[in-house]
Amino acid sequence: MLTAEQNQRLTSVGPSTPMGDLMRRYWHPIAAISQFKTRHTSRVRLLGEDLVLYQDRSGTFGLIGSQCPHRKMSMIYGVPEEQGLRCAYHGWVFGEDGSCLEQPYEETEDPEGRFKEKVTTQSYPVEVMAGLVFAYLGPAPAPLLPRWDIFVKDGVVRDIGYAEVPCNWLQIMENTLDPIHVEWLHQNFADFIAQQLEAPEKRVSRTPHVKIGFDEFEYGIMKRRVVEGGSEEDEDWATGHPMVFPNMLRQGLNRKGYRWQGFQIRVPIDDTHTAHWWYACYPDDGDQQRPEDYTFFKVPIPELDEDDQPRWDLLDNNSGQDLAAWITQGPIADRTTEVLGRSDKGIILYRQMLEENMRIVADGGDPKNTFRDPSTNEYIELANESDPMFARPLYNGQAAATKYSPVLAGPLTVE
Ligand code: FES
Ligand SMILES: [Fe+2]
Repeated sequence: MLTAEQNQRLTSVGPSTPMGDLMRRYWHPIAAISQFKTRHTSRVRLLGEDLVLYQDRSGTFGLIGSQCPHRKMSMIYGVPEEQGLRCAYHGWVFGEDGSCLEQPYEETEDPEGRFKEKVTTQSYPVEVMAGLVFAYLGPAPAPLLPRWDIFVKDGVVRDIGYAEVPCNWLQIMENTLDPIHVEWLHQNFADFIAQQLEAPEKRVSRTPHVKIGFDEFEYGIMKRRVVEGGSEEDEDWATGHPMVFPNMLRQGLNRKGYRWQGFQIRVPIDDTHTAHWWYACYPDDGDQQRPEDYTFFKVPIPELDEDDQPRWDLLDNNSGQDLAAWITQGPIADRTTEVLGRSDKGIILYRQMLEENMRIVADGGDPKNTFRDPSTNEYIELANESDPMFARPLYNGQAAATKYSPVLAGPLTVE
């Protein structure tokens, strides 16, 4: 149980809040570049700030304030130029550094004038990696964009799922430190869902946990489990899989015909909304898949029907089940009335890690997973119980990637 002040401190991400300051020290994904095949601008709300991401005709991405500084029309209507984005209303052009590059009528009226030098719009740095556009909203100098293994690994195909989740980011992350939910939400409840859908082929039986463990390590918290019939010799315990600080789950699977590795990335939009990314890769036999071709798909938000009953069809997968658990805790889970048990020790460790890193930032230091030396950022390997999948290519091509997406697949999961 937390006090109201503690809960607010852990969940509020706006400018000049302790958690907002911590989250601003990291690069966050804001778009898949494959989305920009059919668009030039994208609405971005990140850590409580309204922005527009655009790609100009030279291919450069820019992240600028959502409203034109002139008379405030939204830049979502902006027209891409060779360099920069032109406001639809009166044609002023802004570059990716926020500078005003053109100011048509003002320049005609006063050719010698220097008005445009006085005009800027908000801007933040962006970088493209692994088919994603990342943004950094923190103080300069920006740290390096971490090159986590599956972002830079060769010989895989990838897909990218997205949902805008109407709840605070912390309750989603806490789910990552909660292995016990797998046997109930993704097995017992999933079996009930299969019954409701009269889908006997989807019925699953529950595999109880007999032991769970959490170890702080260099990049976050390593999670371990022993399930009924298993032992500490199993990879699930001996290796485990990590929560990557501050807001990613690394997961994978290499059994029952499923072979993939992935991240779930939870990016705070504001205090009551989270941008959720499912990033997955699959063994490939040599197909060259370009980052601009990575499949992008939206994950539906489960809801109740007109009779206030669950939409079972939207709950028939891991992500639908997780989303229902996260969202129904409320826009910001009330931790002043929670009742934590022994199964929640990973959540307690994670909250302590957040507190410790908020203090480091307040004291002027670099929090966990800040990389500034390129030699330590070439390929950051994350141990994972299902790693051997990469030694045995199984799937071929993008269609396979979509078909076997962990989001779209059945009740199998490792969390
Ligand atoms: S409002 Fe954008 S140029 Fe006038
Ligand atoms: Fe889950």
